Amino acid sequence: MLPGTEVLSRARTKALFSEEQGRIAPGLQTIALLSELAVDHGRGCTLVDLDGNQYLDLNAGVSVASIGHAHPRYVEALTRQLQAVTVGSFTTRARASLTELIARLAPGNLTRTQYFSGGAEAVEAAIKLARSHTKKTDIVGFTGGFHGKTAGVLPISDVGWKHAVGPLPPGYHIAPYPDPTMFDGTPEECLEFSINALRALIEDKAADRLAAILVEPVQGTAGNIVPPAGFLARVQAVAHEFGALLIADEMITGFGRTGLLFGSNHDGVVPDIMTTGKGMAGGFPMSAVISTDEIVKAEPFSLPSASSSSYGGNPLASAAGLVTISTIVDENLTEAARVRGAQFVDGLRRLAAKHGTIANVRGRGLLVGFDFVRPGTTRSFLPKDPCIAFFKECVENGVIAMSYTPRVRIHPPLIISEAEVNQALEVFDAALGRMQA
Ligand SMILES: Cc1ncc(COP(=O)(O)O)c(C=O)c1O
Repeated sequence: MLPGTEVLSRARTKALFSEEQGRIAPGLQTIALLSELAVDHGRGCTLVDLDGNQYLDLNAGVSVASIGHAHPRYVEALTRQLQAVTVGSFTTRARASLTELIARLAPGNLTRTQYFSGGAEAVEAAIKLARSHTKKTDIVGFTGGFHGKTAGVLPISDVGWKHAVGPLPPGYHIAPYPDPTMFDGTPEECLEFSINALRALIEDKAADRLAAILVEPVQGTAGNIVPPAGFLARVQAVAHEFGALLIADEMITGFGRTGLLFGSNHDGVVPDIMTTGKGMAGGFPMSAVISTDEIVKAEPFSLPSASSSSYGGNPLASAAGLVTISTIVDENLTEAARVRGAQFVDGLRRLAAKHGTIANVRGRGLLVGFDFVRPGTTRSFLPKDPCIAFFKECVENGVIAMSYTPRVRIHPPLIISEAEVNQALEVFDAALGRMQA
């Protein structure tokens, strides 16, 4: 358990987890299956199980709980909206205010927003918009990329099983993402290699058909991989060279997580289309496509009912988005992400110097990653079992993170405190000591 907290039995937690496992269909997220947690409630960065055990949540529902669990402003705003109206696509104050706020915060002239419920749905809508605007078809994504699991994004999501549920739709291509931790050479050489390969791929496969290049400003699912500086700007230049658009998938990087409001801001890029979700509504299923006046006019995207959906921008979702983004701005959580992220990276670098089994510590704001490696190496990843053992050890000691694969991902709520980061580092230190032994 966390230092200073008592270890309680996990009897109720285990019983409910097992009971549910007998009925729920398989395929749940690995973190839920391995942790066997049954959660009673959450407050701030802490989750509490059915037996009263507390866990420091470094996962936040995979970057979703940006303002933590049960933030008082969030609870109050959603309660108020529940009592007013929750359903429908009519204009509400919540949606109008949210849309105005996004237009003020998004880079450059990205002032037009359309709402959806899930990430994959928004990315598919962005592809539809790019095709509507360019009247072309093909999409280029990147190795290690993840944009969801529906048919229209599976071809460019790095998911091992995707070919078993084919045929996948045609017109998608994959270029190498620049991962400086896996490249023999400087970050600048890594960037050049990636851009040259991107251009060669397009010339070979899609020169006159390219509608968009779709990219994560920091690759989340791949392991919080931070590309070399300038990558996004170079990708946009290539897209424009071929008369195509840049879609920045800011599902994870959007709204403060990287230490600036958007991942694209780090390169000073105004994407042609941006997709957001996850942390934008603090847990309520909401996602968005954000673009310019000119691009959103394109048909058929802009035809009545052509880009709407049952739940997109409904009053409750809009209230959740509005209070979450307003809280991120009012509490300066973007800056907090920068400071706490730097604290995490510094602490992990100290741990890497002490324990040979971790390397490649990286981060941008509160998107932090490191790799489990064979001691003395940086690219020889540890097999699955010791990683899972590390994960379980951390859970036993009250810290939960995506640390069950060699490429570890850390993305806590943006409100995490200095003391909580130190607690997490202490638990990691002890678990790494035991792993080494
Ligand atoms: C960058 C990115 N895009 C899209 C998605 C898909 O989101 P969803 O799971 O809500 O469909 C994810 C999910 O992890 C993501 O990380």
